[in-house]
Amino acid sequence: MVAPQVSFGFTPGDVIVVTGAGSGIGRAIALRAAEVGLAVGAWDINEPAVRQVADEIVAAGGRAVACPADVTDDNQIAAALDATAALGAVRYLVNNAGPASASNLEFDQALAMSIGSMRRVTDHWLRRPRPEGCALVNIASVAGTRIGSAPDWYPAAKAAVMGWTRHLATYRVAEVRANAVAPGLTDTPRMAGFADSPLGQRIVGRIPVGRLGTPDDMAWTTLFLLSPLASYINGEMIVVDGGWTIAQ
Ligand SMILES: NC(=O)c1ccc[n+]([C@@H]2O[C@H](COP(=O)([O-])OP(=O)(O)OC[C@H]3O[C@@H](n4cnc5c(N)ncnc54)[C@H](O)[C@@H]3O)[C@@H](O)[C@H]2O)c1
Repeated sequence: MVAPQVSFGFTPGDVIVVTGAGSGIGRAIALRAAEVGLAVGAWDINEPAVRQVADEIVAAGGRAVACPADVTDDNQIAAALDATAALGAVRYLVNNAGPASASNLEFDQALAMSIGSMRRVTDHWLRRPRPEGCALVNIASVAGTRIGSAPDWYPAAKAAVMGWTRHLATYRVAEVRANAVAPGLTDTPRMAGFADSPLGQRIVGRIPVGRLGTPDDMAWTTLFLLSPLASYINGEMIVVDGGWTIAQ
C-alpha cells in the first residue's frame, strides 16, 4: 500500500466506487482515494481509460479494479458492483460521471443520463449488503447554483443533483450520509483549450483565485466530505470555484 501523506481518518482498505474514473475529476478522485488508503472500484464507459487508472493505482501499491460500465444501464451497473465486490463491500460512492455540457442531447434524455444515472447507481448500491458508515458525494456544478449556462438541460440537471442530495440526506440517512461538490471551471479534457480562448480568458479574469480549478482541487474536497472527519456534514454542497460565483 502507498504510504499516505494524508489519511482523512479513512480505514485503510475500505472500498470506494468512483464513476467516470477514466478522466478528469473522476480520475483524480480515484488516484487520490488510493493514496489515502482506499481500495478503488474505478468505473467508466471508456474501458481503456479506466484500465489505465486502475493499473496506475496497482503499480503504485494500491488496490483497484477497473469496471467498464455505462452508468445509465442497470445490467452494467449490477455487473460493475459484482466486479467491485472483489475488493470488499463498498462503503463510499462518488457519482461523478455525466455527459459534457457540450453534448448535443435532448432535455429528457440528458436528465436521465446525468441525474437519473446517479440515482440508478446509488439505488443499486444501497440494495446490497454494505458496511456501517456509508457516505456518498454527488458531483454537481456551479451551473446548478449561480451560473446560467447552455444547453438547457445542463443547469437543470446540476441543480437537480443538489435537490436529490438533500432528499438522500433527509430520508435515507440511515443508509448513507450524502453531500455534493459543485466544481467551478475545472481543467479537465472536456475543457481543453478553453482557458486560452477569449471567453476563457475573460472568465479566468473574474475568478478571484486567478486560475481554473484542478481535478485535484475537486478530489480533495470530495474525499474530505466522504471521510470520518466530515461525519456531521450531511446534505451540504461545497462550491469549489476559486470564489468565481461569489464575485459575480
Ligand atoms: N470540468 C468542469 O469544468 C466541470 C465543472 C463543473 C462540473 N463538472 C462535472 O464534473 C464531472 C466530471 O467532469 P470532467 O470535467 O472530469 O469530465 P471528463 O469528460 O474529463 O470525464 C468524464 C468521464 O465520465 C465518463 N462517462 C461519461 N458518461 C458516462 C457513463 N454514462 N457511464 C460511465 N462513464 C461515463 C467519461 O468516459 C469520462 O471518462 C461531470 O459530472 C461534470 O458535469 C465538471
